[in-house]
Amino acid sequence: MTNDNTNNTYIVTAALPYANGYIHVGHLAGSLLPADIYSRYLRLKRKDIVFISGSDEHGVPIVIAAQKNNITPQQIVDEYHYSNKKSLEELGISCDIFSRTTQEEHKKLSQEFFTILLNNGKLIEKETEQYYDSVVDKFLADRYIRGTCPKCGYDDAYGDQCEKCGITLSPEELISPHSYLSGSKPVLKKTKHWYLPLKDYEGWLREWILEGHKEWKINVYGQCKSWLEQGLQDRPITRDLEWGVKVPLQEAQDKVLYVWFDAPIGYISFSKELLGEKYKDYWCNKDSKLVHFIGKDNIVFHSIIFPVMLKAHGNYILPDVVCGNEFMNLDGGKISKSRDHAIYLKDYLTQYPNKQDVLRYILCANMPETKDSDFTWDDFKRRNNTELVDTLGNYINRVLAMYIRYFKGHIRHIDLSEQKDINVISHADTLINNTDDNLSHFRFKDALNCVLEIARVGNKYITEESPWSDSVTVERREVILYTAVEIIAKMSIVCEPFMPFAAKKIQDILHLDDITWSKCLHDNLVNDITVDSVELLFEKIK
Ligand code: 2FM
Ligand code: ZN
Repeated sequence: MTNDNTNNTYIVTAALPYANGYIHVGHLAGSLLPADIYSRYLRLKRKDIVFISGSDEHGVPIVIAAQKNNITPQQIVDEYHYSNKKSLEELGISCDIFSRTTQEEHKKLSQEFFTILLNNGKLIEKETEQYYDSVVDKFLADRYIRGTCPKCGYDDAYGDQCEKCGITLSPEELISPHSYLSGSKPVLKKTKHWYLPLKDYEGWLREWILEGHKEWKINVYGQCKSWLEQGLQDRPITRDLEWGVKVPLQEAQDKVLYVWFDAPIGYISFSKELLGEKYKDYWCNKDSKLVHFIGKDNIVFHSIIFPVMLKAHGNYILPDVVCGNEFMNLDGGKISKSRDHAIYLKDYLTQYPNKQDVLRYILCANMPETKDSDFTWDDFKRRNNTELVDTLGNYINRVLAMYIRYFKGHIRHIDLSEQKDINVISHADTLINNTDDNLSHFRFKDALNCVLEIARVGNKYITEESPWSDSVTVERREVILYTAVEIIAKMSIVCEPFMPFAAKKIQDILHLDDITWSKCLHDNLVNDITVDSVELLFEKIK
């Protein structure tokens, strides 16, 4: 997107976290943070963008969590939705809206979506046999069937998976299956559901993804290719369940839309909630680009199933980019809510007040872009102390401190004429262009590295020019410091998507306003101001 002078509008989405747990570093590194960085970058480029996310509030695990705690599913999702929304705001995740799928507009739009597919003959109806609990008169989702794992013998395996050994199961494979609701033995009973005939779209998907989107990241493209090679099955999009968006049909009063059918429609319904009818400028406009940020477990839903839904519907654009990340582990182990092996955002914010940028920096530096990555507190400390404090913070600090010491803090504009000063500015500009190129291609780690490199270049310049030295004239000293402060100003603009709090502080000190990406390639950003004190941007962590 470098040098993108088009008038495209953008919809940037971050996968909707389930509202049955607190946001942890895995959610952040996987989708919310890259979506935020990208959105902030587009805004700096003065693009017309909406950044959409929210809570995914349906699905069986939420019902089970409610039952376990003896409260209603609505109480569960209320608790987590508001808490997560607040933590994300505190971290500077700049969604234009963070809504929820239990919201009325969302239910209405999801039902409308279903009705349009049904009326246009895009769905098929099938009767199948499914497990049923005749004591409580309910069909049983796979999660509601428990039994002994045929592989490891664990006696409380789910009908879809054994949590102990990780094997994927189907309910009929369980030894002595019983209903989680009444303990009775499940029986098979006929039921009718609506299916999305994915098979009909195989040819189109091949063309659209395998031919048309060769630029997608290799992990996303590869998963799509392997799904298409295996062949696609019809997917049921309704469930026999009470919690969810009701199927809008008289004959299906006790059925709901499958959570993975309604959740991605949330991207659209939240846009509508935010913008009213203007949501169509984004969703129904061929010059609009839809960019999804997701973790790898969501790839098939965003690159195959949701696009098929959109294609079948016909009025909306298709995703332009599905940016799927791998997973972030914690101390070498998989992050797990149920085993409480996680770092929750709300705990971090309490434990490290005013250190939002440190977490954002560390998560971006370790973003699992192409392979799983690992979060450790040692790395957190090391990067904070060396990269943020010694390199970035120290550069800014020493330049401003010298301005105070030698020039009473007065920074005035100077035209640079010496080649070595011009060269270091142009080196910074090259790094800015590299940051731009990396961000436009979703290489967030490389982009962040370029930003840090600007500080390294600045530090090296200052050390070589030694403005503190007695042999340097006052005039020359001022030129060196002005060159250095211009680099800080430029850096404050390009670091904004990554570290918006630090960026704001620097820009306040230097009186920079109405910041845009193109401005950081201009000269003379800082002009006739006085700084009276320097506050440390980052502090060492012991
Ligand atoms: O995997 C998850 O956490 C899902 N709640 C993501 C949903 S993304 C979108 F489709 F809504
Ligand atoms: Zn097992």
